[in-house]
Parts: sequence; structure tokens; C-alpha cells
Amino acid sequence: SERTLILVKPDGVRRGIVGEVVSRIERKGLKLVALELKHLPRETAEAHYAEHSARPFFGELVEFITGGPLVALVAEGPRAIEAFRALAGATDPVAAAPGTIRGDFALEIGENIVHGSDSPDSAEREIKLFFPEL
Ligand code: GTP
Ligand code: MG
Repeated sequence: SERTLILVKPDGVRRGIVGEVVSRIERKGLKLVALELKHLPRETAEAHYAEHSARPFFGELVEFITGGPLVALVAEGPRAIEAFRALAGATDPVAAAPGTIRGDFALEIGENIVHGSDSPDSAEREIKLFFPEL
């Protein structure tokens, strides 16, 4: 079994679809291990997205993710990382298949509702960042 760090980003909280997203995670069979609503400090946001620090949209990304409360959660299950990324859909919500979270609820790449760890190494790093007690 594997763990993954999932975020319902501030756009998802603002739009009132936290329950919808969490419901999809649970229906898939992934188990909730931790869940918290929080407003991210800038330093945590910059650390979370460190791999994108040289990209032109980095400033916008940090502003967006710190712009309101988000929900961070850890889900566990067989191939949880891949399982959640399949639920989330493609990064660009217009390209994301209908039936996925991004495909059903988003239109713009900068406001694509959810984040999910993309590898076991990033999952471990991100879980430590958001839930140091785990
Ligand atoms: P995350 O799960 O959020 O990491 O998404 P991802 O793994 O599908 O995409 P990636 O890690 O490549 O990019 C991280 C995030 O940066 C994306 O989810 C987008 O919200 C944002 N992003 C990517 N490209 C752009 C862009 O061109 N403009 C803006 N504003 N944001 C972007
Ligand atoms: Mg990513």
C-alpha cells in the first residue's frame, strides 16, 4: 500500500466542492489518513512548488495557492499516487477527460482544483511538508 498527498486548492474550497472531491476519493476506495483545512504560509507554498521555481508562472502559482484556505489530505491504498492522478485528470482542465475532477469542474490551468503527488519521492516529501506528525 502507498500514500499520496492531495490538495483541494483554494479554487476548490471557494467553489464549495471539497465534499465532492473527498467523496470521489472515498468512492474509489482510497482511505483517508489525515485531513486539514489550512491557509498556507508563503514559505510552505514555495517549498511545495520548488520544482517550478524557475517557471514564468511561479509567482502566480504561489499567489494562487496562498490566496485562500485549502484542504490538504493524505490518502492511502494500492498505487494511491497513480490512482488519484487518474481521478484528477490532465493538468490542463480543457484536455482533462470528462469524468475526471479537472475535466468536470475546471477550465483554466492555473485553477485546476486539485494537486496530487506525482511519485513516491514527492509523496514522501510533500507529506512531511504538510503533515510532519505522520
Ligand atoms: P499538481 O498536481 O498541481 O502538481 O499538477 P500537475 O502535476 O498536473 O502539474 P505540474 O506539476 O506540471 O504543475 C503544477 C501546477 O502549476 C499545475 O497544477 C497548475 O496549476 C500550475 N501550472 C502549470 N502550468 C501553468 C501555466 O502555464 N500557468 C499557470 N498559471 N499555472 C500553471
Ligand atoms: Mg505536479
